[in-house]
Amino acid sequence: MQPLVKTTGLYLAFGGVVAADNIDFELHTGERLAVIGQNGAGKTTFINICTGYLKPAKGKVYFDGQDITAMTPRKIVRLGMGRSFQLPQLFTEHTVRECIQISAARQNPRLSAFKPLADTVDRNDVEGTLELVGLLEDANVLSSDLPEGKRKLLDVAMALALKPKLIIMDEPTSGVASEDKHGLMQTVMAALDERKVTSWFVEHDVDIVAQYATRVAAWINGAIVADGTPDTVLTDPRIKSEVLGN
Ligand SMILES: Nc1ncnc2c1ncn2[C@@H]1O[C@H](COP(=O)(O)OP(=O)(O)OP(=O)(O)O)[C@@H](O)[C@H]1O
Ligand SMILES: [Mg+2]
Repeated sequence: MQPLVKTTGLYLAFGGVVAADNIDFELHTGERLAVIGQNGAGKTTFINICTGYLKPAKGKVYFDGQDITAMTPRKIVRLGMGRSFQLPQLFTEHTVRECIQISAARQNPRLSAFKPLADTVDRNDVEGTLELVGLLEDANVLSSDLPEGKRKLLDVAMALALKPKLIIMDEPTSGVASEDKHGLMQTVMAALDERKVTSWFVEHDVDIVAQYATRVAAWINGAIVADGTPDTVLTDPRIKSEVLGN
């Protein structure tokens, strides 16, 4: 089966810091990949390269068999690669429902400055996405007034509104109280299952990784140093001492 994402020889340095060190990587449809690694290991850089926000100095990125290395983030999103951010990127002066509408409208060729936003997107789709992530009762709340857990959910829901094949989530539980992390991940993963979306998420909490990932890739200094099942990678002595710090 053709990989959904494939990278070959990705390399990028910032000054003397090698943030992506010759990364060969494949992700297959149906996988739930957790990416682990200490601060500065290159997890976000790798996402930024794959999603078009950064261009690699060397190497290629393929999505669904197509070379996307030189494409803009907007074009890559249209191909079906969604993402959520380490710090949620919401439309803070808009309500939760409007954020989903604006996001969905980006996919829609009928979008026009002269038409009300609600008329350019399918109302049932928007309500369905809100319901899927449990934000229906917050639909009229300003996104800036949401607690952090719901801001994270809304960021994912905005990516889901574009009906992606893949969602890449950069630290979906960061900034969320530890007692709320499992509930958030449960909601997110159930939503992704329901929509049959492949996912890859960066996560520092080992319990979350063990519970929600089918595969774990560990990063050190811009390179993948271990890649396998959660059982194998999370018990690897090098990963335990150099990545997990125990
Ligand atoms: N735009 C940039 N300019 C200069 N250096 C950068 C830039 N982006 C990242 N870096 C550096 O590249 C390295 C990798 O950073 P990156 O943000 O990818 O790490 P990360 O694994 O996501 O870390 P964290 O867990 O803190 O989010 C770090 O040393 C960082 O300082
Ligand atoms: Mg990061």
